Amino acid sequence: MQSIKNYIEENKPRFLEELFALLRFPSVSADPAYKNDVLATADFVAQKLRDAGAQNVEVCPTSGYPIVYGEKIINNNLPTVLVYGHYDVQPADPLELWHTPPFEPTVRDGKIYARGACDDKGQFYMHVKAFEAMMHTDNLPCNIKFMIEGEEEVGSDNLGKFVAANKERLAADVVLISDTSMISMETPSLETGLRGLSYMEVEVTGPNRDLHSGVYGGAVANPATILCQMIASLHDENNHITIPGFYDGVVELTEEERKDLNSAPFDLEEYKKDLEIEEVWGENGYSTLERTGTRPTLEVNGIWGGYTGAGAKTVLPSKAFAKISMRLVPGQDWEKISELFTEHFVSIAPKSVKVKVTKHHGGAAYVTPTDSPAFQAAYQAIEESFGKAPVPTRGGGSIPIVALFEEELGIKTVLMGFGLDSDNLHSPNEKYDIFNYYKGIETIPLFFKHFAELENK
Ligand code: BES
Ligand code: MN
Ligand code: MN
Repeated sequence: MQSIKNYIEENKPRFLEELFALLRFPSVSADPAYKNDVLATADFVAQKLRDAGAQNVEVCPTSGYPIVYGEKIINNNLPTVLVYGHYDVQPADPLELWHTPPFEPTVRDGKIYARGACDDKGQFYMHVKAFEAMMHTDNLPCNIKFMIEGEEEVGSDNLGKFVAANKERLAADVVLISDTSMISMETPSLETGLRGLSYMEVEVTGPNRDLHSGVYGGAVANPATILCQMIASLHDENNHITIPGFYDGVVELTEEERKDLNSAPFDLEEYKKDLEIEEVWGENGYSTLERTGTRPTLEVNGIWGGYTGAGAKTVLPSKAFAKISMRLVPGQDWEKISELFTEHFVSIAPKSVKVKVTKHHGGAAYVTPTDSPAFQAAYQAIEESFGKAPVPTRGGGSIPIVALFEEELGIKTVLMGFGLDSDNLHSPNEKYDIFNYYKGIETIPLFFKHFAELENK
């Protein structure tokens, strides 16, 4: 029987071509204009699962975009791994900042440039190919289930219902996800946590219509100015968030945990250089790694109102808007935080304006145990394929559905991501290194091997 390694080696060019085909689908879940493309992507993924050897493959409808399911059950006495990923991508704009078209994957300097290259098409597809390699070489040591959704980038609204309604079908011993980052290929790492999220939108209304800013300016509250003042007041001079109750329940790290976290390789000068900033920013008393990995934050994602077209228009706008998100840590309840935000934001509005707050999506933070067989299997798999033990890290991003897997299915998640923070996720010129793609395909079967051994002990 051919070894997995050989099989992968021989099929690398095809594995890359298939990923390119997947990346050519503009599966932007946020924009209804791409509806047919998103649906077509689901069918493509389903077909690739079938081709790889999965059974009971189904494109499961939801009231939003479908969830692609497939499985290979070899023996009910063996452990089962549930692979989760998402085939939807973030919008590609601003298009003019891309060096090559976002949905025409292009290789430069060994990196694949395309929207979704890293988040998450390039990463979940590694699992499809690793599965194919295990199947074709008769080397699949665990049962496997795939659940690839199409609404992760818009809050996974329908996945919760699907999971609740399919508990038996989804029963597994661990959820395995590749949708996070490593420190670098020289310093492999394994994320032990994700932050939660609460996403809000605010609308501030002043006068009932846009006004001439000379005729009325100075006498009527400008909602754009007021909105800026309100937003500015959400952080104090120490960059603490001022919403009453916001930090209630936040789990602080022990000194030991802080020391561990801060011992991860991190070069602040490189970080600043990469971003072309003179200084970092954040909550006083915490390091950059702590600020992104373990502390809650509040960010303005977008702010608009009034005239933003060409040239100048002297106007006092009637309305101003902002999208504001908060990253949460263990101990914070995202629904509660959304309420606290709403109450506070309404309470700080001066009488001269009206405020409307709406809630988008959210989800809880997640921390994975590092003493579980699954985490140990991921650890050993990375150690074996990189020749170096991974550094445990806490990631700043969110996959809100992970906490729900634990609630609904009672299973823990292992975050075995192969991206890099510098892969431009959600940004122009998203990329994924071909090296990382192949490395992932090689590492995943090792996870299955170690997990089968450790879980059966
Ligand atoms: N894959 C990311 C999350 C991520 C990226 C975690 C890098 C760790 C490191 C995921 O697709 C994502 O973008 N999540 C969103 C939340 C979602 C509700 C839109 C996020 O983190 O903003
Ligand atoms: Mn993702
Ligand atoms: Mn994303």
